Amino acid sequence: MPSPESRSAFLHLVLLFLVYLLHVGSSAAATTIGITYSSTSPDATANATAAANTTDTSAPSLPPDRVSAAVYALKIPAVRISDPTPNSVRAFLFSNTSLLLSIPNTLVPSLAKNRSVATAWLFQNVIPFHPRARISAISVGNSLLESNPDAVDLLLPAIRNVDSSLRDLGIHHISVSTTFSFVNIMTGAFPPSSATFEKPLLENLIRPLLDFLKSANSSFMVNIYPYNLYRLKCEIPLGFALFQNEAFMYRDDLVTGARYWNLFDMMVDSVVAAMAVAGHEDVPIIVAETGWPSSSPDKTELDANADYAEMYIRGLLKHLRSAMGTPLRKEGVAEAYIYELVDKEVKPSGDTGRSWGILYPNLTRKYQHRLEFSCAYRLVHCGDTVVSLLLLIAFAIWMICYVPVYTD
Ligand SMILES: *[C@@H]1O[C@H](CO)[C@@H](O)[C@H](O)[C@H]1NC(C)=O
Ligand SMILES: *[C@@H]1O[C@H](CO)[C@@H](O)[C@H](O)[C@H]1NC(C)=O
Ligand SMILES: *[C@@H]1O[C@H](CO)[C@@H](O)[C@H](O)[C@H]1NC(C)=O
Ligand SMILES: *[C@@H]1O[C@H](CO)[C@@H](O)[C@H](O)[C@H]1NC(C)=O
Ligand SMILES: *[C@@H]1O[C@H](CO)[C@@H](O)[C@H](O)[C@H]1NC(C)=O
Ligand SMILES: *[C@@H]1O[C@H](CO)[C@@H](O)[C@H](O)[C@H]1NC(C)=O
Repeated sequence: MPSPESRSAFLHLVLLFLVYLLHVGSSAAATTIGITYSSTSPDATANATAAANTTDTSAPSLPPDRVSAAVYALKIPAVRISDPTPNSVRAFLFSNTSLLLSIPNTLVPSLAKNRSVATAWLFQNVIPFHPRARISAISVGNSLLESNPDAVDLLLPAIRNVDSSLRDLGIHHISVSTTFSFVNIMTGAFPPSSATFEKPLLENLIRPLLDFLKSANSSFMVNIYPYNLYRLKCEIPLGFALFQNEAFMYRDDLVTGARYWNLFDMMVDSVVAAMAVAGHEDVPIIVAETGWPSSSPDKTELDANADYAEMYIRGLLKHLRSAMGTPLRKEGVAEAYIYELVDKEVKPSGDTGRSWGILYPNLTRKYQHRLEFSCAYRLVHCGDTVVSLLLLIAFAIWMICYVPVYTD
C-alpha cells in the first residue's frame, strides 16, 4: 500500500491539476463563431461602397426556413442577419442559435430623429419573437460612414433611441451597438500598438460611443477583412493573411514585444490598442464580418479563389476555437461572424460581384472539408483542457500503479 506521505503528495498534485484546469477554463472563453446571412439581397456589405443600398429586392431570396435548416445542419451557433425581416427572425424561433440583427443603414436617419421609429422597428422585428428567438444584440447600421461620411452625428442618437426603446419595453438582455469597417476608422495596423482611430472621428463619435457601450455592457463591432489589407499592402505575405503559420512568417511589434502569426490578430489588436488609447481597453469586440472571396468577376483578382477562401475560413475557425486570443487580448474577440452563409444569386450591380458564401445559392456546400464552428467537446473549454485532463488521468494511473513500488 502507498504510504500516507505519498498519498498526500498524490492528492496535492491532483489538487494542483484541478486548479490548473480551472485556470485554463476561466482564462480563455472561446469566441462564439457565427455566420452572416442577408435576408434580402443583395446588399454587398463586404464592399461597403454599395452597402447603403439594401432596398433592392429584385433578387429572389431563399425561404428563411431553408436557411435556418442549413444553419442547424452546419451546427453554426450564431447568425448575424443583415436587413432582418419578421420572417427571417421567425425562422430561428425555439432554436439555440444566437442572433445579431443588423438594422439597414437607410433606417438610421429616421431612427436618430424619432424614437417612435425605433419602437416601431422593435415591434415588428423583435417583440413578437423575444425571447423564444435568442436575439443577443442589435447593430444600428453597418459601415454607414463608408457610404455616408456625414452620418457621424446620426449614429449615437439612433443607437440611444433603439436602446431606450428596448429598456422601455422591459428588454434588458439585448445589447445595442453599430458596426464599422476597419478601413474607415483606423489609421493603420502596422504595428498594432501604434494604431489609433481616425482623429476627428474619435472625438466626434467613437469616444462617446465607447462610453455608451461601456455603460450599457455592449460591444464594439467592426468588420475585419485581412483580404482587403493584403491587397493594399504588397509586402504582406499571402500565408500571413491565410493563417498558414509558416516558419519565420511572423511580424513583431517592437513596442509591445508581441509576435503576430496572422494578419487577423494584427487587425484585432490594432482595434484593441486604439480603444486603449481612447480610454476603453475592456469593451468586448465583435467581428461582425470577416471572410475571403472565392471568386471575382475581375480576372486580375487572382487571390479571390476557392482554395484561398477555404484556407482562410478553416484557419480562422481553428484559430478562434483554440481560444488563444490575441497577444493584446487574452480572451480574444467575443464573437466573430464569417461573411457569408450563401452566395448571392444575383450579384449586386454596384459591387464587384465577388462570391463570399460557404454555400452555393442552392444551399449545397462549396468546400469539401467540414467546417467546425463550435467545440466538439464542451468539457470546460476547447482545446488544451482535454489534453490536460488526459494528462491528469495518465498521471493518476501512473501514481496508482507505481507509487507502491517506491514506498514499501
Ligand atoms: C468596392 O467596389 C468599388 C467599385 O467596384 C471599388 O472601387 C472599391 O475598391 C471596392 N472596395 C473594397 C473595400 O473592396
Ligand atoms: C440604390 O438602388 C436604387 C435602385 O436600384 C438606385 O436608384 C440607387 O442609385 C442606389 N443607391 C446607391 C447608393 O447605390
Ligand atoms: C437548447 O439548449 C437547451 C439547454 O442548453 C437544450 O435543453 C435544448 O434542447 C436546446 N435546443 C435545441 C433546439 O438545440
Ligand atoms: C415619429 O414616428 C411616428 C411613427 O412612425 C410618427 O407617427 C410621428 O409623426 C413621427 N414624429 C415626428 C416628429 O416625425
Ligand atoms: C452591466 O453589467 C453589470 C455587471 O454584470 C450590471 O451590474 C449592470 O447592471 C449592467 N448594466 C446594464 C445597463 O445592463
Ligand atoms: C448546386 O450549385 C453548384 C454550383 O452552381 C453546383 O455545382 C451543384 O451541382 C448544385 N447542386 C445541386 C444538388 O443542384
